[in-house]
Amino acid sequence: MARVSLNEARLAEHVDRLGHEHPPIDLDSVDYAVRRPDLFNARYGHVLDYMARVELEVDRNVLELTTLLPDPPEIDRRFYAEVWQPQETRHGLILDQLQVHLGRPAAVADLTSVGIKMKLLGALAHLDAFQDVCRMLYYLTGMATERSAVVAYNLLHEGVVELGEEAVARTVIAPIKRQEPGHYAFYQLSARGLWAQLAGWQRWMVRRMRHFSFAPVGANDEAQRADFGDLMHSLGIDGRSDDFAEQISRVERELLWAHRRGLTVPPYVAKAFREAVELSEVRLAS
Ligand SMILES: [Fe+2]
Ligand SMILES: [Fe+2]
Repeated sequence: MARVSLNEARLAEHVDRLGHEHPPIDLDSVDYAVRRPDLFNARYGHVLDYMARVELEVDRNVLELTTLLPDPPEIDRRFYAEVWQPQETRHGLILDQLQVHLGRPAAVADLTSVGIKMKLLGALAHLDAFQDVCRMLYYLTGMATERSAVVAYNLLHEGVVELGEEAVARTVIAPIKRQEPGHYAFYQLSARGLWAQLAGWQRWMVRRMRHFSFAPVGANDEAQRADFGDLMHSLGIDGRSDDFAEQISRVERELLWAHRRGLTVPPYVAKAFREAVELSEVRLAS
């Protein structure tokens, strides 16, 4: 019991701190000046589009979340409503505005459709024991998503600096990338706390469902999986997708797969990223 309350206190403190230290980025602080828009667009235009879409789709993620977790702990609600959604929506708006400055169309984001799978899980989640399984899946998805964002924004920042686009690096990518580790930390703390409380059958179920449902962030169909492969190519990680998979699933492996000694990365995670790269290559060649 003591461990549970300690974790809850740490989470509450973390969410308070994120709220105070990281208000949504001020739109007036952003400088969209780009020295060589054509070059920037050719290299990173579609990366901006992918990330803008994913960031804007948090509005849908919140709808999914309220379906999936009909009765969430207060700290989860505070995090997504007061910290996460306002920050991410702003990331999306800024990245989208930047791509429009480069002469590209705005991102096409799906803000409202909640799939049948999510509704089904949500119906089952009215049973408390099952809601904990859903919460665990939510934290695992959150960890993989936010860790992907941290890695991707770091690489994008390096690339943009290398292109000599100082204003965008300093006023767009750097402030966004500073807000992502706090999101990751929230999901990691939550995942560790909840995993310790789950019964054997719940853990088994989490592993099975993760196996069937894992996908790279924002990749909901085959075209979007290929888009993610394109993004990996532009960020220079298509040739080391296993390494990327390992980085974004480290804590998931530690928690869910502790009993599998020698496993470096959950196979469904490695496979998903390898497939994204393959789909992108096939599409490029056709
Ligand atoms: Fe973000
Ligand atoms: Fe984030």
